Amino acid sequence: MRIDVLTLFPEMFFNFLDASIVGRAVNSNIARINCIDIRDFSKDKHRRVDDYPFGGGPGMVMGPEPIYNAINSVKSEKSRIICLSPKGRTYNQEIANKLSLEEHIVLLCGHYEGIDNRVIENYIDDEISIGDYVLTGGEIAAMAVIDSIIRLLPGVLNNQESYMDESYFNGLLEYPHYTRPRIFNGIEVPEVLLSGNHEKINQWRKYQSLKITYERRPDLLANIELDKNEQKMLEDIIKKDSNCEKIKAKNKL
Ligand code: ADE
Repeated sequence: MRIDVLTLFPEMFFNFLDASIVGRAVNSNIARINCIDIRDFSKDKHRRVDDYPFGGGPGMVMGPEPIYNAINSVKSEKSRIICLSPKGRTYNQEIANKLSLEEHIVLLCGHYEGIDNRVIENYIDDEISIGDYVLTGGEIAAMAVIDSIIRLLPGVLNNQESYMDESYFNGLLEYPHYTRPRIFNGIEVPEVLLSGNHEKINQWRKYQSLKITYERRPDLLANIELDKNEQKMLEDIIKKDSNCEKIKAKNKL
């Protein structure tokens, strides 16, 4: 896969592209990632790329020409051009899965008050937000998108790492993890994990996964098919939860 990042701050990506799993994917040529400085396409002698907004108001707007020329310097028919913006559709695993199948992605990082709307409307395929909060620019959002895509490319994760992947891929939040020491500050690891009984451990993990998803992200449960065993577990979790609510209400807690 090829990814081109159009940014005013290419230096923000240097460590990111060289470290950890992303670094491994880049260094083994599974992903070719290039950062392009939008200022290189400015015709201004001071390399300015922003200007005052028509109609007045606060802040500056990134002008259309340098961005248009930066896009054209990397674009082919196979490119998917994405702008990172708080106005975009909210990013999730499903979008990451689809993007990981693309041949070439171009990520445009906005700054200042925004980008001239003629670029957004005419030369961008998609706008993505990484959540309902405003960052100072699209760079960190672009890194989040790159990271989530890279780990899905064939050959990037080893067996151990992709096993971890599966437990999220089934649509539930992950069960809790523990490692040594067995007792830390007097707090013990759940006993079942020390039992050596893999069937029991798997059942416990499935239960914990369902419980944490029910407690924190019940909306995710609407999107997945549960088997009979999982349905029973979920009923048990809901029953215990409503018992707990009843006890709390009774005791005015
Ligand atoms: N740029 C500023 N805020 C953003 C967000 N939440 N997602 C993507 N790009 C952004």
